[in-house]
Amino acid sequence: MKLAFIVDPLEKLDPGHDSTVAMMEAAQKLGHEVFVTSVGDLAVINGQAWAKLAAVRLQPVSLVDGHWQVFQPWYEVSDSQWMDLTACQAVFMRKDPPVTVQYLYATFILELLAPTETMVINSPQGLREANEKMYTLQFAAVMPPTVVSLDKGLIRQFLEEQGAAVLKPLGGKAGEGILFLDPGDRNFNSLVEISTQQGREPVMVQRFLPAAKDGDKRIILLDGDPIGAVNRIPSGAEFRGNMAVGGRVAPTTITPREAEICALLKPKLQADGLYLVGIDVIGGYLTEVNVTSPTGIREIDRLEGVCLGEKVIYWLEKQF
Ligand SMILES: Nc1ncnc2c1ncn2[C@@H]1O[C@H](COP(=O)(O)OP(=O)(O)O)[C@@H](O)[C@H]1O
Ligand SMILES: [Mg+2]
Repeated sequence: MKLAFIVDPLEKLDPGHDSTVAMMEAAQKLGHEVFVTSVGDLAVINGQAWAKLAAVRLQPVSLVDGHWQVFQPWYEVSDSQWMDLTACQAVFMRKDPPVTVQYLYATFILELLAPTETMVINSPQGLREANEKMYTLQFAAVMPPTVVSLDKGLIRQFLEEQGAAVLKPLGGKAGEGILFLDPGDRNFNSLVEISTQQGREPVMVQRFLPAAKDGDKRIILLDGDPIGAVNRIPSGAEFRGNMAVGGRVAPTTITPREAEICALLKPKLQADGLYLVGIDVIGGYLTEVNVTSPTGIREIDRLEGVCLGEKVIYWLEKQF
C-alpha cells in the first residue's frame, strides 16, 4: 500500500516519543510505501485531493536498556512531488493541535477522498466534529462535573461549588494553558481574563480530581477497542501529568471501569470515523478524547514489549 502521513516538520518530531513515527516505521517494516506531507501542501486539482508527497525512509529506533535509541539521521526524504491522493490507500492526518483555520481547510480537502479507496485516519468529518476537550461532553455520564463558558461569574460560582477546579483552553494540548483554580486565589479574575482572551473564547472548567496525583491514564483505542494503556504521573510540584511537562510514565492495566468507558465511546467513535484515538482517564473519569495526533504508542511499546504501530497497520490492511 501507499500511505501518506500529514505531519508537522519531520525535524520537529521525536522518533523515540511520537506515535506518528512509530506508525510510519511499522508501515515501512510491513512493506508499505510511506510518504510525508504537511497541511500546507494539500490542494484540490480538478475536484480531486492532491498533495505534495515526499517518500521517506526511516532508520528504526531500537530498545536499549529500556530506552529507545535513535540512529541519526533517523529519516531520509526524497524530493517531493504533487500526487493525486487517490493513489494512496490511506492518509494519516497527524498534524498536532491547535486546530487552525488551515487545519480545518485541510479536512475539507481530505473530505474529497472516497473512504472506500483512500481511508483518512481520522475521518475529516470526525476531526471537525471532535474538539478534543468538548467531545468528552457527549459522554457526560463518565465525565467529572464540567462547565464551558467565558463568563467570570459563572466560572466563579462553579469553582466555589466544586472547591477546586482545573481550567482548560479548548484548543490546547500537552498541558498547555491548563490551570489549577482555587476559590481563594487572588489571581482568579486575571487568570480567567487571560485564559478567555479577555472574554472572547470560552474555556472548560472541571472539578479538580485529587486522583490526578496517581496518574492520568492514556488509553489508545483502535476502531473503538482499547489496544494499550500507559499511566502518566505528575512529578514534583507539578499537578499536570502530561509527558511534555515532565510526567513520568509507568506501566498500567485497564480497569473494568475503564473498559466500560471504552465500550460507551465505541459506537460514537465508529460513527464519527475516529479510528485511532487516545483517551485520558483520571480516577475513573473521562477527561479528554484526543483525536488529532494522540501520543503514547512508543511508551506503551517500550513498557509492555508490544508494537502498537504494527497493530494499526494490520488493522488498516484488513479494511480493503
Ligand atoms: N479534572 C482534573 N482534575 C485534576 N487534574 C486534571 C483534570 N483534568 C486534567 N488534569 C491534569 O491536567 C493535565 C492535562 O489535562 P488534559 O485535559 O488531558 O489536557 P491536555 O493533555 O490536552 O493538555 C492532565 O494530564 C492532568 O494531570
Ligand atoms: Mg491530555
